[in-house]
Amino acid sequence: MKKRKLKKEPFILLGIILFCFLALLLIFALFKHYTSYEYKLGKIGYDDAEIAYIVKLDKKYIDYALKKYDRFLIPLTKQKYLIWSKYDDYLAYIKKTYKSNSINYKDVIAKVNTKTNYDFYTHTLETDMDKGYGILVNKYYYLPDKYEPKDIVSMSNSYAYPNNSIKEKVYEAFKEMSKKAKEDGITLIVNSSYRDYNSQKRIYEQYEDKKGQKYADSVAARPNFSEHQTGLALDIFTPGAGMKNFEGTDAFKWLSKNAYKYGFILRYPKDKESITGYDYEAWHYRYLGKDLATKVFNSGLTFDEYYAYYLDK
Ligand code: DAL
Ligand code: ZN
Repeated sequence: MKKRKLKKEPFILLGIILFCFLALLLIFALFKHYTSYEYKLGKIGYDDAEIAYIVKLDKKYIDYALKKYDRFLIPLTKQKYLIWSKYDDYLAYIKKTYKSNSINYKDVIAKVNTKTNYDFYTHTLETDMDKGYGILVNKYYYLPDKYEPKDIVSMSNSYAYPNNSIKEKVYEAFKEMSKKAKEDGITLIVNSSYRDYNSQKRIYEQYEDKKGQKYADSVAARPNFSEHQTGLALDIFTPGAGMKNFEGTDAFKWLSKNAYKYGFILRYPKDKESITGYDYEAWHYRYLGKDLATKVFNSGLTFDEYYAYYLDK
């Protein structure tokens, strides 16, 4: 009798231990389940596919998703150029602009990043001059009052029509580019370059007097908002072709392929009017330096978009 009793006890003990272990395991599994992102996101209203996507995102997006259901979160986070600090502005812009479900998210990001969700010449700021050749001057970023660039040199008639001057470094880059173009049978000639405040004012007002403010704003910058005042912009023509027909020339084709290699980018491209704020200008090139120009060229972005995402830190 005594012997049998002794045999049963270890089994009971083992059973109790096993039970406790399993109970603990169950408690742990339940705890894990109810505190998991998957469970919490599901409770908020995200479906399985959305949850599978969200849990792989950066923690700041997950934390946001855990607060509320937002059907724009996933499509917006799929956009390469999303800037998280502007997220509320993306939502506000979508709400204001789109009445149906077919939303162009790429455009939402581009518009908000470049501030073109606001009217031109509103929400303006003095541009950060510390950006060197990468300064941004557009309808939202203006030059400091009475700004005059240093190192402005006059351009020789071999490279420009009379009375053109430009920053020395830009001149060097243009000469290098121009010589290379010549080897390919292309002649580049500068039509307009550095303009001081008063010249820019005159140009803008001439357009305004002739065709009104709306037109003037589509082709010329208001004084202090022009890249020409920085000494970093050149309007490039080729003999026999000016603004009207430059796009159809071999010179334009050559520049489209090669300008970035010398530090220049096409600043106001076709179909980007709503971002740049200007009609397409096949002749207006902006000096950024070779490194930055190559990056901007390869990105396929306008400089406004590139600046917002990569430089405006
Ligand atoms: N035409 C360019 C936009 C300027 O006036 O600066
Ligand atoms: Zn220009």
